[in-house]
Amino acid sequence: MTAASFRLDGRTAVVTGASRGIGAAVAEGLLHAGARVVTMQRGAPAESLQRAAAKCAGALSAVTVDLASTASLARAIDDVRAHHDVDILVNNAGIQARHDAADFPLDDFTAVLDVNTRAAFQLAQGFGAAMLERGYGKVVNMASLLSYQGGLRVAAYAASKGAVAQLTKALCNEWASRGVNVNAVAPGYIGTDMNEALLSDETRNTQILERIPAGRWGSPDDLVGAVVFLASDAAAYVHGTVLPVDGGWLAR
Ligand SMILES: NC(=O)c1ccc[n+]([C@@H]2O[C@H](COP(=O)([O-])OP(=O)(O)OC[C@H]3O[C@@H](n4cnc5c(N)ncnc54)[C@H](OP(=O)(O)O)[C@@H]3O)[C@@H](O)[C@H]2O)c1
Repeated sequence: MTAASFRLDGRTAVVTGASRGIGAAVAEGLLHAGARVVTMQRGAPAESLQRAAAKCAGALSAVTVDLASTASLARAIDDVRAHHDVDILVNNAGIQARHDAADFPLDDFTAVLDVNTRAAFQLAQGFGAAMLERGYGKVVNMASLLSYQGGLRVAAYAASKGAVAQLTKALCNEWASRGVNVNAVAPGYIGTDMNEALLSDETRNTQILERIPAGRWGSPDDLVGAVVFLASDAAAYVHGTVLPVDGGWLAR
């Protein structure tokens, strides 16, 4: 084992949801580790990511997709596959909806399951097929503390992230012997757009902070090391794990 086994030179990575937040930081981290990166989201990749990529010509490209649509995603996967041999898939994009369970609109429930779980599976199938043919690939899913816990007013999100953790294990069981590592990262409370409602609620914010042993919210950059590691050959024998990056939250 050498430091080189953490590098991703010559690899091509797809990252969903790199217009902001965790996806933008992870995509930049993969670039710095030497990978070419293809981002997939509705808008453009984050400006910070585009600035980072400007230093390594040709290393970043973007495909527009609406993950809520199976047809849009199928077209986007075909488009990426026509131009790239994808070695690494980071299923990062996700959405949240907050309602009391008793009043949870079914459309919102379905939308969250669709983007967070169905799209992740469709992407794993879409890029996993060629990985299995080549006998090499890495899938890193974005799970959550709500892969373990039920949360409050987030029934759809908790269901979707529980499913992401189980999907990670199910795919691992079928693909590990065929050269494809499937793992997940479970971020704790990270200061992104997704948590605007919690960050602006002083009471909830204080309750959350009091429970985090590290004593602070995470930043998107806190996720980069774990994703790069799982995407690298340093993690060759790591299969089917869900790695919390949560400032110690789950240890409480
Ligand atoms: N923040 C946290 O505390 C936290 C904790 C645990 C897990 N996570 C997970 O980490 C991942 C990233 O979260 P984040 O906080 O960085 O979220 P975020 O800042 O809200 O960013 C979400 C990303 O997902 C993309 N996206 C959403 N809906 C999409 C759609 N229909 N089609 C294509 N792209 C779509 C967005 O791109 P566009 O809007 O440009 O399309 C954006 O790039 C998610 O899976 C989330 O569940 C986050």
